[in-house]
Amino acid sequence: IIVFCCNWCAYAGADLAGVSRLPINPHFRVIRTLCSARVDPEFILHAFKKGADGVMVLGCHPGDCHYIGGNYRTRRRMALLKIMLRQFGLHKDRFALQWVSAAEGERFARVVNEFVGRVAELGPSPFRLQAEKKKAAALAVSR
Ligand code: FES
Repeated sequence: IIVFCCNWCAYAGADLAGVSRLPINPHFRVIRTLCSARVDPEFILHAFKKGADGVMVLGCHPGDCHYIGGNYRTRRRMALLKIMLRQFGLHKDRFALQWVSAAEGERFARVVNEFVGRVAELGPSPFRLQAEKKKAAALAVSR
C-alpha cells in the first residue's frame, strides 16, 4: 500500500504519529511529495500497475495548502481518477484522498489504519494477481 504525503502537513502528521508512538499498521510505504498536487494521477496508475493493493493521497486541509490552491487541484484530479480506476476494474476502496494537518498525528494513524484495513479486506489487487499469473506462466514455459 502506497501513501503519498505532502511535505508540509501530511508528512509532518505522519512524523507526529511516529514520535507519539501511535499504533499504526505497518503494511504501507510513504512517498513524500512537496504538495499533494505533485501527485500526478499517472503515479497512482503506475503504483497499481506495479502491484500496489491500495494507494492513498494525503494533503493539507482545503485552504491550508502551502502552495495556495494545490490541494483544490488535487481534489478535482482525484475525483476523475476515481472514475478511471473503476473502469480499470479496481474497487473504489483501493484509493483514498484525505486531509491531514501537521498537528493531526492521531488523524494520520486513524486514516491510515482504516485504509489499510479496508484494503486488506479486499485482498490482493486484480492487477497484482494478473502479474503473478503471468510470472508463473513464464516460469513454467522456461522450465
Ligand atoms: Fe500540502 Fe499542498 S502543500 S497539499
